Amino acid sequence: MKIGILGTGVVGKTLATGLVKLGHDVRMGARSAGGDKAKAWVREAGGKSSEGTFADAAAHGEMVFNCTSGAGSLEALNAAGAGNLQGKILVDVANPLDFSRGMPPTLTVCNTDSLAEQIQRAFPKVRVVKSLNTVTAALMV
Ligand SMILES: NC(=O)c1ccc[n+]([C@@H]2O[C@H](COP(=O)([O-])OP(=O)(O)OC[C@H]3O[C@@H](n4cnc5c(N)ncnc54)[C@H](OP(=O)(O)O)[C@@H]3O)[C@@H](O)[C@H]2O)c1
Repeated sequence: MKIGILGTGVVGKTLATGLVKLGHDVRMGARSAGGDKAKAWVREAGGKSSEGTFADAAAHGEMVFNCTSGAGSLEALNAAGAGNLQGKILVDVANPLDFSRGMPPTLTVCNTDSLAEQIQRAFPKVRVVKSLNTVTAALMV
């Protein structure tokens, strides 16, 4: 299956690597194509791995994973493009953590709303599924 991974952090790399090992065709997306982290991941992962912009990864994937920081997720998804995400399942792994006042972090949205609901409202034609966000990256695959 063709899968798009938005984000080059520990979660993006962990999920992308696990999916490549299962034989999937995985494109990792970042703010710009050819970044050091994404290129290093392609070298390590081998198989059907590739990298590009958020838009490249979203267009590539039949299914897409949001592995960006929660506070930046809407910005990243806007860069990915509604047209590239339309009709697809978007697995939202992000937590909307606010570290601006130190540790422990607070949530940028909670109680009466959530990041996944914000994403679903912003992208009504995307099938948003909140998953995996309550476990540490090492346990996600
Ligand atoms: N780490 C875990 O075990 C774990 C477990 C459950 C859920 N999560 C959640 O999963 C998500 C990813 O976690 P992580 O540990 O992989 O984080 P990370 O290493 O900090 O990676 C975050 C990614 O988001 C991108 N990003 C941040 N702000 C952005 C913005 N404004 N616009 C576009 N892209 C932006 C970063 O790009 P740049 O490198 O260009 O800044 C990077 O690719 C987070 O929401 C986190 O809360 C993490």
